[in-house]
Amino acid sequence: MPSSVLLLGATGGIGALIAGQLSSHRHQFDRVAFLTAIADAGPEKEAKYKAVPLPRIVGALDDPASYNGFDIVVSSVNDLEGAQIRYIDAAFAGGIKHFYPAEFGMDLTRPEIQEESFFARKLNIRKHLEHVVSQDPSRGFTYILVGMWSNWMLDFNIFGLSDDKKSATFVGAPDTLLTTTHAEDVASVTVLSLLPSHLKSLSERRHIRLAGSTLTISQYYSVLSKVLGHDINVQYVSKEASYSEAEDPKEKSNHLAIILASLKRTLGFGGSVLEGVDNDSYPEITVKSWEEVVKARFS
Ligand SMILES: NC(=O)c1ccc[n+]([C@@H]2O[C@H](COP(=O)([O-])OP(=O)(O)OC[C@H]3O[C@@H](n4cnc5c(N)ncnc54)[C@H](OP(=O)(O)O)[C@@H]3O)[C@@H](O)[C@H]2O)c1
Repeated sequence: MPSSVLLLGATGGIGALIAGQLSSHRHQFDRVAFLTAIADAGPEKEAKYKAVPLPRIVGALDDPASYNGFDIVVSSVNDLEGAQIRYIDAAFAGGIKHFYPAEFGMDLTRPEIQEESFFARKLNIRKHLEHVVSQDPSRGFTYILVGMWSNWMLDFNIFGLSDDKKSATFVGAPDTLLTTTHAEDVASVTVLSLLPSHLKSLSERRHIRLAGSTLTISQYYSVLSKVLGHDINVQYVSKEASYSEAEDPKEKSNHLAIILASLKRTLGFGGSVLEGVDNDSYPEITVKSWEEVVKARFS
């Protein structure tokens, strides 16, 4: 049962990788395309849209007509205001049957996540999607769960390394388990999961878990230390202290700093571990381990 897939957020960090993989597999679908809101978004954005290797559709993301003729929507938008709720409504009203919300991260059923502000928007989107899908047995959804992107952890220095990389400050405990997965593997599992060999029916309601590495925080530092060739003196910040840091008046006015503190606390105290992973169901993917990712970056 080949299907037609519409991608939202095709120029983003994960969206661009998904677009590339969708393009490689395009012959296995009836149709693939990406959706943008306006026809001429200015030279800089237009250049980005031109680089997406998929046909482009222009239409409002909250207009059902934009989704006509498609079965599946993969959303990789980074909408900080929760606009995906409107896109979900429009997409199902336009006739799609299966929706992938922009998850691509932690397992949101974990207890560490429930009270953290960083996840409030994603939890709301999930709740809304599950409600909309529950109204019609022919509708389904897929959540792609991967923990933290290993390359992103390095890009944004989430391990808090000093400039000389000989010391680090980390909100969390050394024996906490953390799952990381390279963003390229995140894109691979997303696109493979769309193929008829994996998605048997559009009405499936799936939580797909893929893990690159699951290690303790101290093991992550050991790998960094081994690859860098020197010791790293790590100072661990307690959960209590992390709350008082966010109360600092300098940080308090900075919304981004507050949500980042919430994310760091979650991953440092167990919110980003994946249990019962589906790697064996995706033998097509040879996931990149943390050590491979660190070696590619620093060797
Ligand atoms: N687990 C991890 O470590 C990790 C790391 C990073 C991200 N993520 C997750 O991955 C997802 C995507 O993040 P990203 O970093 O790939 O995003 P990103 O690079 O910021 O890309 C954002 C994309 O979303 C589009 N967009 C932004 N706001 C929008 C809106 N209101 N309506 C429609 N489109 C909008 C942008 O399109 P235009 O350019 O056309 O505006 C762009 O294509 C998010 O759910 C994020 O939480 C997870």
